[in-house]
Amino acid sequence: MLLNALSRSVQVLFLGGKGGVGKTSTASAVALHRARAGGRVLLVSTDPAHNIGHLWEREIGDDVVTLFRDADGDGASAGRLDAVEVDPRRTVRAHVREVGQTLRSMMPEHLHRQVDEHLRMAEDSPGTHESALLERIAELVEQSLDDYDLIVFDTAPSGHTARLMALPETMTVWTEGLLARRDRAERFGAAVRALDRDDDPATQRDRRIRAVLTRRRTRFEQLRDVLRDERRCAFVVVLTPERLPVLESAELVTDLQGSGVRVGGLVVNRLSPDDAGEYLARRREQELRHVESLRELLPEMEVQTVPLLPGDVVGADAVGRLADLYA
Ligand SMILES: Nc1ncnc2c1ncn2[C@@H]1O[C@H](COP(=O)(O)OP(=O)(O)OP(=O)(O)O)[C@@H](O)[C@H]1O
Ligand SMILES: [Mg+2]
Repeated sequence: MLLNALSRSVQVLFLGGKGGVGKTSTASAVALHRARAGGRVLLVSTDPAHNIGHLWEREIGDDVVTLFRDADGDGASAGRLDAVEVDPRRTVRAHVREVGQTLRSMMPEHLHRQVDEHLRMAEDSPGTHESALLERIAELVEQSLDDYDLIVFDTAPSGHTARLMALPETMTVWTEGLLARRDRAERFGAAVRALDRDDDPATQRDRRIRAVLTRRRTRFEQLRDVLRDERRCAFVVVLTPERLPVLESAELVTDLQGSGVRVGGLVVNRLSPDDAGEYLARRREQELRHVESLRELLPEMEVQTVPLLPGDVVGADAVGRLADLYA
């Protein structure tokens, strides 16, 4: 099966798609399935309207919590499922603090209020949260690749995520531009001062800024490399078997591929049963026609169908039942 196979072949798996189609349920199920099979798995929600916590009926935040641990496991090698719900505001605040310190050290005291005002505005400006989210994703990938066999990202509804996938490239180029500008400024500054002594405050400040920028560049480069590496990363689009979702998912696949991301396949969730009365059987026929047109639109893509369960997917047991379907 598609998801099962992917969860064993890649290290980073993104799940995306329209609102309400089953991204969080599918991400949780595939993550649990891999953890039950002995894998160390990290499940990450990047959707601001986090719902891993609701689904698992657990309080989850920007610090990692463990949702499942293999009972027979001996610790280090045992299957485990950890989860984190990314809070971009936390990353933004940390950033603003860091930038604020640097700016204040550069500005005379009477301008500090203006610096603070400027940063408060920056905190709410468009793009700030997106880049902070991306930075946090890059940070998680950087920190977790060694500790986990698989990282599963439960992403926000469609458009947003496709844009985000294109960002590492932009951010890398942008940070490189900043570094090049700093290079010139530093050389100029050193020439003017005719010194580059360790205890010179300007030299120290330049070093600090350079260190921050270099760290970010390394992170974005690493994320970009992971996203483009077909052996390490795949994106799976989740949808329901209906006309508009089929068309929109085909568009999303094209967008993602345009950003250099490998789309590993599609999961058509909530397929009606054929053995639960004529009404649902007829519904299923209609749904299968939509699945067929999806295959025609994307002939090279693998498509997995997941049945409609009788109840909502809430709580660890229900996630477990969904996970069984991938076995
Ligand atoms: N195979 C399934 N059978 C029955 N119900 C399902 C199935 N998959 C998901 N659901 C239910 O569908 C609803 C939406 O699922 P889920 O929260 O996983 O979607 P989502 O794509 O993450 O939504 P959002 O875009 O709001 O984050 C939930 O109530 C969930 O319990
Ligand atoms: Mg969700």
